[in-house]
Amino acid sequence: MKALFYSKPGIENLVFSDYQLADLREDEILIETKCMSVNPIDYYTVTGIHGLDGPKMKISPYPHIPGTEVAGIVKKKGSKVKTKLIEGDRVIVYNRLFDGTCKYCRNNMEMHCINGGMIGVITNGGYAEYIKVPHHNVIQIPDEISWDIASALPIGGLTALNAIEESRLKRGDFLLIFGGAGNTGLFCSQIGKIKGAQTISISSKQWVKEYGADLVLENNASLKENISRVTNGRMIDLVINSLGEKTWSQGMNLVGKLGTIITYGVLTGGNLLTDGRLLYNNQITIKGTTGGSVKGLNRLIEIVKENNIKTKIWKRYSLEDSKKAIEKVFDKNREGRIIIENGG
Ligand SMILES: NC(=O)c1ccc[n+]([C@@H]2O[C@H](COP(=O)([O-])OP(=O)(O)OC[C@H]3O[C@@H](n4cnc5c(N)ncnc54)[C@H](OP(=O)(O)O)[C@@H]3O)[C@@H](O)[C@H]2O)c1
Ligand SMILES: [Zn+2]
Repeated sequence: MKALFYSKPGIENLVFSDYQLADLREDEILIETKCMSVNPIDYYTVTGIHGLDGPKMKISPYPHIPGTEVAGIVKKKGSKVKTKLIEGDRVIVYNRLFDGTCKYCRNNMEMHCINGGMIGVITNGGYAEYIKVPHHNVIQIPDEISWDIASALPIGGLTALNAIEESRLKRGDFLLIFGGAGNTGLFCSQIGKIKGAQTISISSKQWVKEYGADLVLENNASLKENISRVTNGRMIDLVINSLGEKTWSQGMNLVGKLGTIITYGVLTGGNLLTDGRLLYNNQITIKGTTGGSVKGLNRLIEIVKENNIKTKIWKRYSLEDSKKAIEKVFDKNREGRIIIENGG
């Protein structure tokens, strides 16, 4: 099959060529890819370094096909796969491998499986004509969900839903999102809105208003003052901050008494400096979240279907041009998601 792959870390080492797909295991499903979303993690997988100052990533196999967020159609089932899925069904890939037996899996937290890892990082990913994954990672999607949005659910959408569900966000609460125009940010504002929150996205891009943000504010010297005015001094109930170092202390100063800060990413660096006085005086909860569960992904599919959740596509690339798609992830002019289409 044709695939984008690299034999040693580095964007410059990506090639689009023939790749020998290994035999389908008895518990696997072969998927013909349709639409893949490009995430920061795909860039890190290719460079081999997790983020700005992060650790080296453990990648396998080599040569490696990146691509963590995948939607496609069922092509073939392994000999021992007993699901109702049939050839041609539209599906997405739950991104975390899991054994189904450890204490985390038994408690519906497959993203923490002790024998887990990310598809596209510790296995080959979806920037190829086909991907094969364990059958319990394959989730059917209804016809009402387009390929564009389907490809944003396993990581962007699910991470946002899980973060909000793990918070104590209530109807009427103020929700503030740093990185509001990003893959996860657009889901956070829309899901927050559905939960009845008053949503404030921090972004220079006013179009975020079309994606669930009641208010879009630029991050400038007046931000704290503006938030105080908008909330009548109450400040924010839930801050979602996946940007890391650069905005961390700002977030600490925007959250109100008994408020919560959630992080699932550290885009600008991982050293999160926290003023302990703010933390205890305001009784702030800081919580990390990551990915989401299989049940969460199924809930998300229903939420998306019922509420017409949207994503913004900035650029579409064919599989042949998928290297360019990865190169563009951190383009400062990016206005929405980047997707790769097989046969598009
Ligand atoms: N743990 C998990 O399961 C998980 C899942 C998904 C993502 N993540 C992580 O979460 C973070 C966000 O992911 P994402 O997919 O939403 O990323 P994204 O699509 O690249 O969006 C990030 C947004 O942050 C803003 N931004 C980017 N660089 C910035 C900078 N230097 N200073 C200030 N703002 C900046 C931009 O928004 P504006 O244009 O509005 O400024 C951008 O749209 C990443 O670190 C990612 O690795 C983790
Ligand atoms: Zn497990």
